[in-house]
Amino acid sequence: MAQYARGSAVAVIRLRNPPVNALSLAVLQALEDGLKKADADPSVKAVMICGENGKFSAGADIRGFSSPKRHGLGLGPIVSLIESCQKPVVAAIEGVALGGGLEVALGCHYRIAHVKARMGLPEVTIGLLPGAEGTQRLPRLIGVPAALDMITTGKHIPATEALKLGLVDEIVEENTIEAAIRLANKVIGQPLGPRRLSLKPVPKLPNMEAFLQEAAVKVKKQARGCLAPELCFQAVRAATETPFAQGVRRERELFQVLLSSGQARALQYAFFAERAVHRWATPTGASWSSAAPQPVRRAAVIGLGTMGRGIVTSLVKANIPVVALEQDLEYLNKGRKAVMLLLEREAVKMEGGAQSLDFHNPARLQFTVDFDLLHDVDLVIEAVFENMALKKEIFHKLSKICKPGALLCTNTSALNIDEIASATSRPQQVIGTHFFSPAHVMRLLEIIYGRHTSPTAIATAMQLAKALKKVGVVVGNCFGFVGNRMMFPYVEQAVFLLEEGSRPEAVDRVVEDFGFKIGPFRMSDLAGLDVGWRSRQGQGLTGPSLPAGTAARQRQGQRYSPLPDLLCEHGRFGQKTARGWYRYERAGGRTATPDPWLHSFLAQYRDTHGIKTRFIDQEEILERCLFSLINEGFAILAEGIASGPEHLDVIYVNGYGWPKHTGGPMFYASIVGLPRVLAKLQKYSEAHPDVPRLRPNAFLKKLVAAGNPPLKDWMSYVSRQSPKL
Ligand code: CAA
Ligand code: NAI
Repeated sequence: MAQYARGSAVAVIRLRNPPVNALSLAVLQALEDGLKKADADPSVKAVMICGENGKFSAGADIRGFSSPKRHGLGLGPIVSLIESCQKPVVAAIEGVALGGGLEVALGCHYRIAHVKARMGLPEVTIGLLPGAEGTQRLPRLIGVPAALDMITTGKHIPATEALKLGLVDEIVEENTIEAAIRLANKVIGQPLGPRRLSLKPVPKLPNMEAFLQEAAVKVKKQARGCLAPELCFQAVRAATETPFAQGVRRERELFQVLLSSGQARALQYAFFAERAVHRWATPTGASWSSAAPQPVRRAAVIGLGTMGRGIVTSLVKANIPVVALEQDLEYLNKGRKAVMLLLEREAVKMEGGAQSLDFHNPARLQFTVDFDLLHDVDLVIEAVFENMALKKEIFHKLSKICKPGALLCTNTSALNIDEIASATSRPQQVIGTHFFSPAHVMRLLEIIYGRHTSPTAIATAMQLAKALKKVGVVVGNCFGFVGNRMMFPYVEQAVFLLEEGSRPEAVDRVVEDFGFKIGPFRMSDLAGLDVGWRSRQGQGLTGPSLPAGTAARQRQGQRYSPLPDLLCEHGRFGQKTARGWYRYERAGGRTATPDPWLHSFLAQYRDTHGIKTRFIDQEEILERCLFSLINEGFAILAEGIASGPEHLDVIYVNGYGWPKHTGGPMFYASIVGLPRVLAKLQKYSEAHPDVPRLRPNAFLKKLVAAGNPPLKDWMSYVSRQSPKL
């Protein structure tokens, strides 16, 4: 609703729709009624629009986009109505003015914002464009480069930046509403023409065409198959080429294209999925609604290698004092240098610079090799080598040294949380916090509870994720947890495709065209082939512990590819050795070039093993990689390792570079249609009977037999007795 009140000469319209004053139909109707009333009332001389509860508005009601009746377009005429009002209209922006909320403010003649307010046009992030004339008004107000940046990235900008850009007229530190009423009184009677953005020309640039061409290339590159940024660009371009009314028509056409594209639905699903995973639950009945987190006032990180240094940086950025521990002084010095470098870089990006992080202050960041210094921390994150014996030794030590309530977290990427917990006297306080590399950048935090992990420990880890500005996803304990477990079959298929006739660059291309940031082989070169090699040696799949006479391409009756092991035996560890699935300009180089050596190596390998090279088309590459990953996802759901498909999707989008505009692997499967996924898996499984991961999972079959129910109903088909936890 929008509440109308008249005090002195200024009528106040207050947008009211908790929690974020989304512009539902009822709000829009009340806004329109309020404006008409104010216009008609001769005692009203000016109007002020604000939002209830310290928030202007987060824009259109996203849930309403899926309803056939309402597409957010009703807002455009209301914004025009505000602008054409014969009395000055002032927007008082507190909290957020996003999307349609900011478009309402753009219709106003004046904008005043609280210093802590944030503004943006985030429609692009939910697959749309600002469809209430925002693509036409914003460039007229702040110029094409700044408007294009805001509209095509969807970023939220702070009030201070908005003031610099000219997006708001004034910012205040105290009462925004009172300041807006004062401003409204002051401008009564002043001409409104110059304040109506639709009447203003778009500011010219000396080189507009060249600028737009360059921007188009950049937007396309960053979009990676996502339509919305490109169409946002086209709408802004229309503002530079056509009069306002024509630009608005173009904006509407483009909005309709996006609305019916499917990508908007997927991105809106992803928006709500990210919020749904906050409400975690475990099969034993523990949940977010009853568990309270413990405060984390001080933390420790053990191991300052690739992961530990990013984790320390993340904690410092979140203002949590940290003790950073290494095994000896040599490693400590190396780790300290690396952490300081990361923090310096982060400080440059932040407002307030190094001072705001205060990382030179030992009370905030302390480096040590002395475990005793961990006696009073609230939480420890262990990030030492992936070795069970070492991890157990460390957890045993921690359980003796740390104070009784301290949470003991491990950053293991696959090991058994229960076994690690068994080395302590307090398994209820042991939990997996699986960060992704680089840990200070990647948004995902996979949170793994063990058999004895307490609800308080889970709630505390979730709270930590929030403090670190990450998205925490609670999952059960199994080898590889959710993310890596689903990744194994995908990587396995990619290597099998090479054996059968494909090339790394062909597989990567298909997967990257689908929208992944990076294909499996470039990823493997980046992470280092030696990591998986060591793990396979540990599992006895390769190396000296492999029993003599084991068939080269079989392990325990299943197909196995020794290709990655052979590359490692040739010293090809990826980027770090300048050779891997590709070659690189130098050790540590980033530019992957297809390698003729590898092509002939593959040909020779096929000869040796009597494999007939065949042409593998793009469809097969994509389906075998993605559907095998999805198949594992169904196994995870059936076992109760994750409480819903949204969890898997949030993990994949935020931790593995899965293209957000397809929603995530499970949403994508629902769009492809489960019967098709099943049929394709059946086909590939028949062609490769020795690959168990291609065999369609029973839960997938069950869903297909149940008539392909919508994703939101899938979990009601999980057998209640099946959770392994
Ligand atoms: N519509 C419907 N619900 C919304 C919403 C919206 N625009 N924005 C937020 N919500 C809901 C969330 O789903 C959440 O609901 P639950 O508590 O039931 O999960 C609740 O409001 C609070 O949201 P957050 O948990 O995200 O709270 P936060 O404080 O972390 O963030 C926010 C607040 C910055 C406003 C964030 O919610 C956000 O970014 N919202 C989306 C803003 C957006 O994309 N607006 C553009 C809409 S499209 C548009 O306006 C179209 C057009 O021009 C035609
Ligand atoms: P790394 O090899 O880069 O660093 C490990 C660090 O631990 C080294 O600096 C080492 O000196 C230190 N260390 C070893 N024993 C120690 C001890 N007793 N006391 C204190 N410090 C000790 O390893 P990386 O890649 O950072 O991995 C750490 C953990 O994170 C592993 O469990 C790994 O599986 C996991 N992980 C790794 C990811 C990656 O992309 N590298 C991603 C997610 C998880």
